Amino acid sequence: MSKVCINIAWPYANGKIHLGHVAGSLLPPDIFSRYNRLAGNEVLMVGGSDQHGTPITVTAEKEHTTPQAVAERYHEINKMAIEDLGIEYSLFNKTYCKTHYDVVQKLFLDLLGNGYLYTKQTDQYYCADCGRFLPDRYVEGVCPTCGAVDVRSDQCDSCGTTFEPGDLKEPHCIQCGNVPEVRQTEHFFLKLSAFRERLLDYISDKDYWRSNVKTFTQNWLNEGLNDRAITRDMSWGVPVPVDGWDGKVIYVWFDAVIGYLSASIEYSNIIGRPDYWKEFWQDPEVKHYYFIGKDNIPFHSIIWPAILMGEGGLNLPYDIPANEYLMFGGGKLSKSRGGAIDVPSVLKKYDADLVRYYLSINMPDTHDSEFSWEDFKIKVNNELVSDLGNYYHRCLSFTQKNFGTIPSSAPAEESAEVMEKIGSTFKEYSEFLSKCDFKKALKSVMDLAHFANKYFDSSKPWALVKSDKDACGNVMNTNLRIVKALAVMSWPFMPRSSEKIWEYLGIGGTIEECGYGGLTAPLPAGTRMPEPVPVYKKVEFEDEKEKVHKAPAAEPGISGPFADFRKLDLRAGTIVSVQDHPDADKLYLLNVDIGEESPRQIVAGLKAYYPREKMLGRKVLVVSNLKPAKLRGIMSSGMLLAADDEDIGGNAVLLLTPSKEVPNGTKFSSGMDSSSSCIEYKDFQKAVLKVSTVRDGVFVAGSRKLEPAEGCPLRAAAVFDGEETVLLSDGNGSIATVDSEIKDGAGVR
Ligand code: MF3
Ligand code: ZN
Repeated sequence: MSKVCINIAWPYANGKIHLGHVAGSLLPPDIFSRYNRLAGNEVLMVGGSDQHGTPITVTAEKEHTTPQAVAERYHEINKMAIEDLGIEYSLFNKTYCKTHYDVVQKLFLDLLGNGYLYTKQTDQYYCADCGRFLPDRYVEGVCPTCGAVDVRSDQCDSCGTTFEPGDLKEPHCIQCGNVPEVRQTEHFFLKLSAFRERLLDYISDKDYWRSNVKTFTQNWLNEGLNDRAITRDMSWGVPVPVDGWDGKVIYVWFDAVIGYLSASIEYSNIIGRPDYWKEFWQDPEVKHYYFIGKDNIPFHSIIWPAILMGEGGLNLPYDIPANEYLMFGGGKLSKSRGGAIDVPSVLKKYDADLVRYYLSINMPDTHDSEFSWEDFKIKVNNELVSDLGNYYHRCLSFTQKNFGTIPSSAPAEESAEVMEKIGSTFKEYSEFLSKCDFKKALKSVMDLAHFANKYFDSSKPWALVKSDKDACGNVMNTNLRIVKALAVMSWPFMPRSSEKIWEYLGIGGTIEECGYGGLTAPLPAGTRMPEPVPVYKKVEFEDEKEKVHKAPAAEPGISGPFADFRKLDLRAGTIVSVQDHPDADKLYLLNVDIGEESPRQIVAGLKAYYPREKMLGRKVLVVSNLKPAKLRGIMSSGMLLAADDEDIGGNAVLLLTPSKEVPNGTKFSSGMDSSSSCIEYKDFQKAVLKVSTVRDGVFVAGSRKLEPAEGCPLRAAAVFDGEETVLLSDGNGSIATVDSEIKDGAGVR
């Protein structure tokens, strides 16, 4: 048994993590960690939210809030999403953390004391109009290396080149668009040049590194190492621990990589063993792995090792299995450039293990891979469900039904071929996993499932059970041993479903306790088996379900979304009180005045999006004839209309508001009569409402034309039906709108 330290790239806390993060850097380490745990190794796995730097401050400025609010909000959201994915860190920390600040400042001062930091006057972009320095993402322009446009001034996402101020072509301030000037400012520099020889020596035995990592690093070192500024003119970040440096902070990359160490220390404090981290960081026998996306390579293969060398006495990265990109319709899947598929909305629709399966079998390990929902569906349905899931279920349900307990085992020679197949599969599987070759390891598991189905078919247990029940029992015992081996070997990839299968075997304990050591151990005959349920469900898209379950039209002659919409009774209202729901973190308990005798009590899941003070007094639109329902124990009589662009890759949720002030209780509609009888939530969902920009008389979502009313706001909500689009208004010039940015086509719920 040995110790392994697994380090995971820290996603910026400026948005929700998406499938690109999962496939690129979050899922591979979880697979690797679980593999190590089953092999009996002790794993320390750390990472967290990267909460500093311009990625956070730029987002905060856009959202008119503070960097801290952005960083903390997305940290919570992403931490939960990671748990929901079944990714088990020892600690998912954050950089806005006391221990982290202390460790970063200590390393900074140590490097200063060791002669690896110095100060220098240097060029920096400065915007005369905005009156401030423009570090990193505050300037965009054209990449001098690959010609990509709109790249940021610190690094090109397309080719990976890192820049110094002045490198970018056609630079402009992202705030005002002006061409920035270059001004002198003083900064601390990391003397990277002093590490060149040591770094060359360090990578000389890294033949096992992935070729992209090795080549990228080698090229950087060959081009000669430039010293790099590691402080910035801004106030959000770790303060420079030197007198007279107020108003400047440590560069986000210098601070974030140190997070691996500080999170290990923080974890040790949490478990009450303050020196635990030393067992991983100071014992040279312990291997350190870093799971990252390819744009992070130089920071982990050069800058972080240099910092560690400058500090001394700490382990350097052993391997840095960087992944390529997951592409989505031809572009990199990146939340900051749109087109993202964020984890919370994906997990609302699909089980985590289906997502984990698809991203493992389609992992962008040696080259970019293409993501599509079509392909997701094909791979899940045709491989996971048909091969593995089907085998599990036919074995478990057949045995459970016919025997009720695990039948006695076959004579050794009868199961020899099967046991050999399990052994040889395990051998190649472990070889692949030990080299972080996840896709191939999962393929060998799926090959075993394929073999298993053939074995089941050829031994015909359904016939045997009638002719020779004992022989049938023997065959099923052998089948269950394959089931068990499959569940154990699948666990790193699909932990929750594998654990379910384990429960259906009825043998007690856990997969982790069994480990690879117990992979081929015989099954205890006579053990009661619980009744199984299939663990993988076929993927069926919403619109396909719709075709089958479509409800009849509301009235003869009128059908489609307009018919459903006509049933809604929408009223303008004012939020008159806001309380926290006593039993649910995400819910508010509101009272909304919609012109009735007393305000309506409404429960709304808006806490993650609106602070209480932004809710109180706000003008809203309410679905007033929704059938009252209890939400977490509290009655809710109505619903606030909000636009949500999650399904089309955004992460905004914005309340709809009348564009002009109207009395509470004013009715909003699409100009058609609506009945005011009570409607069910599921009927509400069928009404197709969208928010979009209205430009030159066109409602930009889709290509639908409409006649905008006079004084139509730029953003409006409309009802859709086929080619027709009708704005939602009170008929007197007040139109349903939203008060800030959201993607065109965002749905209203
Ligand atoms: N936040 C960075 C990104 O998303 C990754 C930081 S990894 C660490 O690209 F090394 F800095 F921790
Ligand atoms: Zn480039």
